[in-house]
Amino acid sequence: MASSREEIKKEVFRLRQEIEKHNYHYYVLDDPLVSDAEYDRLFRRLVELETKYELASPDSPTQKVGAPPLERFAAARHTLPMLSLNNANNQEEMAEFEERVQRFLKSSEPMEYAVEPKIDGVAVELVYDQGRLVVGSTRGDGINGEDITLNLRTIRSIPLALHQGEKRVPRRLEVRGEVFLSRAAFQKLNREREEEGQPVFANPRNAAAGSLKQLDSTITAKRPLDIFCHGMGTVAGVSPTTHTEFLQALKKWGLKPISHVRICHSLKEVLAHHQEMERRRDQLAYEIDGLVIKVNSLELQRRLGEIARSPRWAIAYKFKPRQATTRILDIQPQVGRTGTLTPVASLEPVPVGGVTVKSASLHNMDEVERKDIRIGDTVVVERAGDVIPYVVQVIEEKRGGREKKFAMPERCPVCGSSVYREEGEVAYRCAGLSCPAKLKESLKFFGSRGAMDIEGLGEKLIDQLVDRGLVKDIADLYSLKKHELASLERMADKSAQNLLDALERSKESTLPRFLTALGIRHVGEATSKLLAEHFGDLSSIMEASEEELTEVREIGPEVAKSIARFFAQKGNRKVIEKLLKAGVRLRKEPKKEGRLAGSTFVLTGSLESMSRSEAQQRIEALGGRLASSVSQNTAFVVVGSDPGSKLNRAKELGIRILDEREFLKLLGA
Ligand code: IVH
Repeated sequence: MASSREEIKKEVFRLRQEIEKHNYHYYVLDDPLVSDAEYDRLFRRLVELETKYELASPDSPTQKVGAPPLERFAAARHTLPMLSLNNANNQEEMAEFEERVQRFLKSSEPMEYAVEPKIDGVAVELVYDQGRLVVGSTRGDGINGEDITLNLRTIRSIPLALHQGEKRVPRRLEVRGEVFLSRAAFQKLNREREEEGQPVFANPRNAAAGSLKQLDSTITAKRPLDIFCHGMGTVAGVSPTTHTEFLQALKKWGLKPISHVRICHSLKEVLAHHQEMERRRDQLAYEIDGLVIKVNSLELQRRLGEIARSPRWAIAYKFKPRQATTRILDIQPQVGRTGTLTPVASLEPVPVGGVTVKSASLHNMDEVERKDIRIGDTVVVERAGDVIPYVVQVIEEKRGGREKKFAMPERCPVCGSSVYREEGEVAYRCAGLSCPAKLKESLKFFGSRGAMDIEGLGEKLIDQLVDRGLVKDIADLYSLKKHELASLERMADKSAQNLLDALERSKESTLPRFLTALGIRHVGEATSKLLAEHFGDLSSIMEASEEELTEVREIGPEVAKSIARFFAQKGNRKVIEKLLKAGVRLRKEPKKEGRLAGSTFVLTGSLESMSRSEAQQRIEALGGRLASSVSQNTAFVVVGSDPGSKLNRAKELGIRILDEREFLKLLGA
């Protein structure tokens, strides 16, 4: 059914509103209304319409993917200075704070405080003019910050336009908040960086700061940053009377206010709440390093004013630091799935914030050298939540002269194969194809949730399977016998059968899951999905050249290289064959829709009416794909001016040739 452009525009508008609503429920309210699949469907439909009908707009929720890189950040001046907070480190200092407030107000009345977590993130300001996000900036020196609008626009919980609801939207709203990365996101990011041999971030705060400092906002877009809004700059057009009322209004406007706010009516309550939150801090998904206590009445805040760049109406009551001093007993390399050797320090056990720490990751040799960490050194260790503790620094004054430098071994400590370091990489890797340490990690990954999802395939079991030689590659899992399993420690008949059932169930898989499960470097769930969508079946991916792989949206040369290299290995192909023979089936994903679905185009020469990337977008919007070389599978070769050898090749193979006019007609232009 042909729709008029007006109808399409209406649909685009509706989809945007609907997606915004779902974003809000998911990212701000943490209470999703629809399944991920339904959300993806809406999102894909919007992308399709925006590309096909050239309806893209900077305010569309599809635009959270970043923009072309900047050369540098412009300066952004705050209309009201962004202040910093005075700290209190104990109850006495908190009592002094309350006294100061009461003395200044000439009152001994009990105060109403809003008590909030102090988020360990990066302070930013967002400016909404007539409801639209116009500038986002860092704190800088409090007066001048950096304009990081493009980066902030990529954050899912930052609306590009305020919600017009029952609550009047201010003419101008300057809101301050803290951008942060959850601990889980931080750990994932560091794991990836460790694998790739890139320097790791010391803590979630540094990772968030590093992500916001990117001149290329498409990099920021890939980091799952989040925000908590906790303060105001200039606000025109509405006048809340308390801080908590302001926070509630933020939520109505679609912003994400700081959570876990508690109203306290006395210092005693504040102190008790502080104790409780310090106990519970690990239960939060993000790092907090204390509480911020604010006089709740905005009128009183105005009267109290500020002194020396800090408000008199607020104070940060810090938690105990989570650092401790201990000694490094030894450093040992640990072998990961892709063969990376990570140096790990064993420590003299030491309590850090309520947990005994016995080891710390040193991440990679560059870190070891940069911090000059030696065996026997006395070091400061820090623990952030349940994150692996890390060594902050060496206390050089404590050196006695008997400390030993650590060097990576030349042979893998697990399989004895040689250890190499690729040019331009930080990581040392084990070259052994069948290194048991690598195999164990691969098996763990293969069975994990986002991959083949094999219930009951735990670490202890994997250790036994590999150590006893029952499993020599991932495909061997599918030829395990019940009596073999039942002979293992802590394996009864029943659990052996359960595992066999789980293995059987896992055979019904999908292409993206299977690709993920192979554990190709740089290929996680998201990339696997893209590959599956683009190529449609496993053999096309296995045969694709590096060049063809880079044609997939969001796949760069490094990832393409890694994929092509993986499938070029005979051993890997054998394992895949073995898996398929064992009965692993890849359920077909529903076919891509569109008039050109299944058709591959090749373009040679340049077109007058559009660029190459535009041509690609338009072909893809109709379900087709653009390849770079001509093969039997090519449906059309589009010829522009100055065509190259591809034209001859197309003639040789008898492939249909289109000139620009015919191509435009096919696109329906
Ligand atoms: S209110 C007048 N509330 O801590 C200053 N700040 O050292 C208003 N921070 O730069 C700050 N969580 O970026 C406030 N719930 C919270 C906070 C918070 C973290 C940061 C803020 C500020 C720094 C103060």
